[in-house]
Amino acid sequence: MPSTGPAILPQHVAIIMDGNGRWAKQRGLPRLEGHRRGVETVRTVVDAARAIGIRYITLYAFSVENWSRPSDEVSGLMGLLDFFLKRELSNLIKNRVRLRTIGRTGELPANVQRELARVIEATKDFPDWNLVLALNYGSRTEVADAARAYAVAVANGKEKLEDNSWETFSRYLDTADLPEPDLLIRTSGEHRVSNFMLLQCAYSEMVFTPTLWPDFGQADLQSAVDEYGRRERRYGLTTEQIKAGAK
Ligand code: FPP
Repeated sequence: MPSTGPAILPQHVAIIMDGNGRWAKQRGLPRLEGHRRGVETVRTVVDAARAIGIRYITLYAFSVENWSRPSDEVSGLMGLLDFFLKRELSNLIKNRVRLRTIGRTGELPANVQRELARVIEATKDFPDWNLVLALNYGSRTEVADAARAYAVAVANGKEKLEDNSWETFSRYLDTADLPEPDLLIRTSGEHRVSNFMLLQCAYSEMVFTPTLWPDFGQADLQSAVDEYGRRERRYGLTTEQIKAGAK
């Protein structure tokens, strides 16, 4: 558990990027145009995160539920993902940003899987900055997959059933190598977490902004980080305990 007390700079910010469709609708444009603008925001936010000093940024780019959208929107999103990976490779290398993923990426189209593998391999040794894309991700499937992997490990004698604890079990989640998000942001005025990192966000501070994702920029990220800085993280303790320096 990270230390208690006043929150300073979040190490890990997770974002539910919402509002692309409404942004497009307000302008009489097709939904995909909103997603296209959303991709530009992704680049802006990754750059802004580095400028602010946020080491991990996780973006909810495609949920397990998103497959149920109209098929042209799904294929449009996959096309944008492919485009983003091709375009951003040199930029990620230049800025020494490591790309990682969470979610069932093995179910994504083959071309997207190929591009992902290429970018992940090319950036795997960068230690400082991390962009995590949640792709074909949902907390419930992640937990079901982890429970299965954990059961297999117990059956193989790799884990002992009596050692079950959050520390042990969380090693089977997609996020095993990532710190828990300190701050969760959702854009577009919705106040839900929608099956996103439900266990990992157990103690995350949450900031909801009415700004639609295509309009979100460095100032909005900074303002969420400033809001985070005004929060007190207590992890179940009292303010008095924290003031007294309890860990
Ligand atoms: C939510 O907006 C957004 C998504 C379901 C997809 C997010 C995808 C991108 C920003 C582009 C692809 C990402 C990368 C990393 C290349 P919505 O469509 O639900 O908006 P609405 O609620 O206004 O309809």
